[in-house]
Amino acid sequence: MSREAKKPRPTRIQEITASVFPAFALLAGLELDLFTALDGAPKSAAELAHARGYDADRLERLLYALVAAGLVTVGEGRFANTEEAACYLVRGRPDDISDVKELYADIWACCLRTADSVRAGAPQAKHDFARMSEHELVAFLRGLAPGARASGRGLAKHADLTACERIADVAGGSGALGQALIEAYPHLRVTVVELPEVASITRGFIAEWGSDRLEVVAADVVQEPLAGAFDIAVLRNFLQVLSPGDAERALVHTARGIKPGGAVYIIGIGVVDDSRTGPAEALGIDLAFLNLYDEGRAYTESDYRSWVASAGLKDFERIRLEGGYSMIVAHKAG
Ligand SMILES: C[S@@+](CC[C@H](N)C(=O)[O-])C[C@H]1O[C@@H](n2cnc3c(N)ncnc32)[C@H](O)[C@@H]1O
Repeated sequence: MSREAKKPRPTRIQEITASVFPAFALLAGLELDLFTALDGAPKSAAELAHARGYDADRLERLLYALVAAGLVTVGEGRFANTEEAACYLVRGRPDDISDVKELYADIWACCLRTADSVRAGAPQAKHDFARMSEHELVAFLRGLAPGARASGRGLAKHADLTACERIADVAGGSGALGQALIEAYPHLRVTVVELPEVASITRGFIAEWGSDRLEVVAADVVQEPLAGAFDIAVLRNFLQVLSPGDAERALVHTARGIKPGGAVYIIGIGVVDDSRTGPAEALGIDLAFLNLYDEGRAYTESDYRSWVASAGLKDFERIRLEGGYSMIVAHKAG
């Protein structure tokens, strides 16, 4: 057989390079709020363009890219949302995740700096939560909010919280996770603990969500123990932004604020298997982290296990969730 005949086809390379376009079409669709515009009866590109003052030709090309992405259907020149797009991408729907556009735009732009960060040995698109501008923080936390809300709803279903009174959402960002918890359990009170530099932004979001059972406390949990006596503490997408030493300190400090018999839930995309070969989504997001954080990263299950032990927590359990997320549960002795 000739060398030419034995050569592999560049199939995977072609698949990878083509796979970015649906993502960019989705982002543009969200930025133009097209899925909300397509809610209801199917519409032509000309109708949509006229209503919005957009260029009809370029809009039509974007709509066909969304058809190729499987988010929009077309028939007789009229476009409509798929069931999935109608459920998740239309503004104001109960499962609306359209705010994620701010997160994706940020994270994907950061990933373009990966080679620079590797060369420099330092993050070239650094996120320092204590130094980010208000505008950057609001965009980042708003982008994270749909996922935080979904995690809150998931936790409310997974765990029976009827006997709980107080929950701490440690490093809770927008407070959307807490909002989902109090919606599911009308007796619950949730305290969102955030850095002093971020707490006023969290208060702004909470004023938007509107609940007197959600409060914000300004504290740096790497530096100081969690004040209070909570039944449960939730840490979502938090320990992954810290160095290993700070992550351990944050967990030790969090555990101090939990009542005996209480539990800690660590929910995050930044948990990888000890082999470091999966989940694929966590390895993918670690690419963003190497551009964002001095030391934060997707840590291994064993790293989390050792911090849980240092915090005096027991019964470590890792539950694999959708989208490469993990939920680690551990308990404080009763
Ligand atoms: C990736 S965001 C996650 C926010 C939120 N938990 C979510 O899932 O949407 C990380 C959060 O950790 C907060 N944070 C970082 N260091 C902290 C510290 N030492 N104490 C309290 N919060 C901290 C940041 O302000 C930021 O809101």
